[in-house]
Amino acid sequence: MRSFRVKWKSPANIALVKYWGKNGHQLPANASLSMTLSEAFATTEVTFSPLKNEGGPVVTFTFENNTNEIFQQRIERYLQYLKENEMPFLQHYRLDIQSQNSFPHSAGIASSAAFMSSLALCLCSVEEQLYEGIGYSFFERASYIARLGSGSAARSVYGGYVSWGRSKHVPHSSDEYASPVNKTVHPSFMHYVDTILIVSEKPKAVSSSAGHRLMNDHPFQLARYRQAALHHEELLRCLLCEDRQRFVEIVENEALQLHALMMTSHPSYILMEPATLFVIQQIRQFRSETGIPVCFTLDAGPNIHVLYAKDESVAVENFINNQIIPSIAQPVRVMYDRLGNGPEQLFFEFDK
Ligand code: PMV
Repeated sequence: MRSFRVKWKSPANIALVKYWGKNGHQLPANASLSMTLSEAFATTEVTFSPLKNEGGPVVTFTFENNTNEIFQQRIERYLQYLKENEMPFLQHYRLDIQSQNSFPHSAGIASSAAFMSSLALCLCSVEEQLYEGIGYSFFERASYIARLGSGSAARSVYGGYVSWGRSKHVPHSSDEYASPVNKTVHPSFMHYVDTILIVSEKPKAVSSSAGHRLMNDHPFQLARYRQAALHHEELLRCLLCEDRQRFVEIVENEALQLHALMMTSHPSYILMEPATLFVIQQIRQFRSETGIPVCFTLDAGPNIHVLYAKDESVAVENFINNQIIPSIAQPVRVMYDRLGNGPEQLFFEFDK
């Protein structure tokens, strides 16, 4: 039995069409579409050491050199599931997992997508080495394995624009793994910027799993899934035809719909802060005054992702720094990100 040491860097992503609601084992209720980020990523190193018996996987986990009991248990459950259903080789190994983020943990950026995709990539690298010619496409398999840990992580294994979920508008699409759609994206969207305004660093009020569950008996469930499918189809068309105006309408509508669903679920959650609404209104006003098609999106929290093309950076960043930030009472942390190229393997070593 060989030992392995593998390390991957994998990015976070921000959904433009949101995944909200799931079926079965981590299968999405609707197809989603995201942009992979560049500067917000997780770096995860896993050492696989053979065990003398088949009692694995034995797991240790540290995040930024600290143990984390809750995350450790979640990873153990995930790896146990993979051992029983997907990756029997895990029974022979002890896994020492060390991970860190390039961004502050409290920044409200979906860190689980970055972490789960980096872990899945490490697992799949070893699987590929152990079972040469296994017949899977590596990234498709990594996306599938990442999805089992966190749905949105399925999208983080690819760079650029990524779709996840069955759609007749994306060839070979599946609920089980994501696929990149960059070949049908107009070049002007390939230099997109995401400037993230962190208006609150409070921990999330509702976990994603609890959030997805809220959709099970939500009164707007069917309307939401129908509209998500239309938005997914239409956003693909906007990316292809460079329809910036409709892009803005759909992306903002998706963000507000996610929050509207949470506000009107039972129990109900209001995850926006007054500053979130203030920034949204400022962006809309700036857009109508200047004609620059800058827009916002939100994750399941109060922080605002401001999206625009790279050649609009000077005007938009002046507006952010000179108009928005000075008008907000509390301190705002700004993170400059952009469309990224996807994960990168940092090393892979094994004893022969
Ligand atoms: O991957 P999860 O289970 O953390 O769900 C992610 C849900 C949203 O971030 C709100 C939307 C999305 O599509 O990423």
